[in-house]
Amino acid sequence: MASSVGFLCIIITMATMNILAGASNQYKVGDAEGWQLPDVNNTDVYKIWASKFTFYVGDTIVFEYKNDSVAKVDKRGYYHCNETSHGSMFKDGHTVFLLDKSGFYYFVSGDLDHCRKGQRLMIEVKDQQLPPSIAAPSVSPRPSAAVSWFIPSFGTLKALEALMIVASCGPYLA
Ligand SMILES: *[C@@H]1O[C@H](CO)[C@@H](O)[C@H](O)[C@H]1NC(C)=O
Ligand SMILES: *[C@@H]1O[C@H](CO)[C@@H](O)[C@H](O)[C@H]1NC(C)=O
Ligand SMILES: *[C@@H]1O[C@H](CO)[C@@H](O)[C@H](O)[C@H]1NC(C)=O
Repeated sequence: MASSVGFLCIIITMATMNILAGASNQYKVGDAEGWQLPDVNNTDVYKIWASKFTFYVGDTIVFEYKNDSVAKVDKRGYYHCNETSHGSMFKDGHTVFLLDKSGFYYFVSGDLDHCRKGQRLMIEVKDQQLPPSIAAPSVSPRPSAAVSWFIPSFGTLKALEALMIVASCGPYLA
């Protein structure tokens, strides 16, 4: 009896910790197609892709490409396809960007002709919402974070989680 209560206690504590941390998602830009020059009849492919998701602070997006590049630019660079030299340009074929604050993000191919032909991405990133109640965590595909200003590293979180389990579950496990 004591051990099953203890087990339940661990589960609840871990679930609570995960909700506090906010589950962050990683999105692969373009899904299976990845990051490439769009088909001439499908130049809105990255607009359509971006419209499928709601991005939150803490999420990451990954660009996968071959013989191409990606650069984070400002709004003007995105609309005019002319400012790749002002941002940092990546050519490694697998580029991950952390969406660390809310607002609009703009990315283009470093090949400006590709950019003009639709290989550019604009996304809006939103702040995490306060959960309705931390006391009654619901199992949703995207739990919200209570503290968007505190995004602890995975390691910190696991250590904290272990501490919380010992603190709140110790009496049941004894
Ligand atoms: C694009 O659309 C035009 C007209 O519908 C068609 O003739 C052409 O083959 C299409 N091109 C590609 C690459 O699908
Ligand atoms: C790589 O990209 C450049 C510029 O778009 C193009 O000229 C070249 O042919 C490409 N090479 C390969 C192997 O696809
Ligand atoms: C890009 O184009 C816009 C509009 O023509 C211009 O105002 C801006 O100065 C250009 N930026 C660069 C870096 O050339």
